[in-house]
Amino acid sequence: METIARRKFLQFLAASPLLMSTSAGRLFAEETLSAIRLPDYLIKSPAEALDVFDFHNVARSVLPTAHYGYLATGTDGNETLAANRAAFDRVYLRPMRMVDTSSISLTTDLFGERIDSPILLAPVGTQKAFHPEGEIATARAARARNHVQILSNVASHSIEDVMEARGAPVWFQLYPTSKWATAKTMLLRAQDAGARVLVLTVDLNAGSNRVLLGQFARADERDCNACHTKDPSAWFDSKPMYTGTGASVADFDTSGMTWAYLDRLRETVSMKIVVKGIVTAEDAASCVRYGADAVYVSNHGGRAEASGRGALDSLREVVDTVGGRIPVVVDSGFRRGTDIFKALAMGADAVSIGRAYIWGLAAFGQPGVEKVLEMLNAELSMVMAQVGARSIAEIGPHHIGDVS
Ligand SMILES: Cc1cc2nc3c(=O)[nH]c(=O)nc-3n(C[C@H](O)[C@H](O)[C@H](O)COP(=O)(O)O)c2cc1C
Repeated sequence: METIARRKFLQFLAASPLLMSTSAGRLFAEETLSAIRLPDYLIKSPAEALDVFDFHNVARSVLPTAHYGYLATGTDGNETLAANRAAFDRVYLRPMRMVDTSSISLTTDLFGERIDSPILLAPVGTQKAFHPEGEIATARAARARNHVQILSNVASHSIEDVMEARGAPVWFQLYPTSKWATAKTMLLRAQDAGARVLVLTVDLNAGSNRVLLGQFARADERDCNACHTKDPSAWFDSKPMYTGTGASVADFDTSGMTWAYLDRLRETVSMKIVVKGIVTAEDAASCVRYGADAVYVSNHGGRAEASGRGALDSLREVVDTVGGRIPVVVDSGFRRGTDIFKALAMGADAVSIGRAYIWGLAAFGQPGVEKVLEMLNAELSMVMAQVGARSIAEIGPHHIGDVS
């Protein structure tokens, strides 16, 4: 009896703000936090995962050092990577109680089509670097859980094979090329394969300074050439979307690209055009002016310029500028249902995840990606129930506030 009473008293003290403000209380809080961070527990199956970071731990342990570096890298000192996460901490939730949330729906509309969840799979190139089945495993998971998959044009698999595995059209993402014929060949191929949405990525035209990638590559003692070539001119051979394009390294100098590129796209294909990599109100206005069908707010997961600004902060000014005229998609740093909810409340129509699903892929292949999607959907549903929003349409700015 005495022991139970003592334990209860200690529990009470631990939760007491009074004690927390003393140095003993601080010590207690610090010890608790380090205990939470300490274990690098490696889950043995997707079912064990408590959040997406469990997949990160496994991915880090199974991937070759250089490949993990390619996945993890930001730019410069990774300031934008950190800013992406920090931006979520500056937004709080405003739950509304006593709403009947016995039924929660994640379905929403994008380009006139009903989708089961606002969570999309962002384009991530070269997925065979993370799992032998690469984008095919991702496609099977997207099919199993019915999510929109965006396929990169630097994918390890062809759009035809990925579409077959997905069992439905995927969105096609294009890195522009300065030689128009290269881009045009890929665009027509994607359209012929059935892609109805084109995502044009515009945030790497000036390159990026990926220091962490270089550090990890330097630390990897394996011979890269034993598995794949490091010769840039042979790089295209491992990217099926470049087959028959006659591409050369020089085609990647897109520093002269302007908004006129959208006209060329529209003259060539009838796909919806989404512009990915927008982070300012000015460029959001240009997207609308030049006829884009959607704006995709992204800082490439902190892998483009070292702006030091979180994507969620960019989202706000883009949403204000677009004013509902075209849909807004966002990515960069999303790891939890709460993060996704905050972006939806700010006015995003859909949220893409990048590294989170690649951690699942690297750790367990298709079942890993499936579990990541299942968890994020469940987390988002829980936040919606907590704040009293029963559908995506019911989520609004009144559900969030700014930490002052
Ligand atoms: C390893 C890796 C490869 C990527 N490849 C592409 C790509 O081929 N095309 C593209 O538009 N974005 C690419 N991205 C950026 C993602 O589409 C997305 O913007 C980013 O991953 C979102 O941030 P997050 O990883 O923090 O979720 C890549 C990101 C990573 C991590």
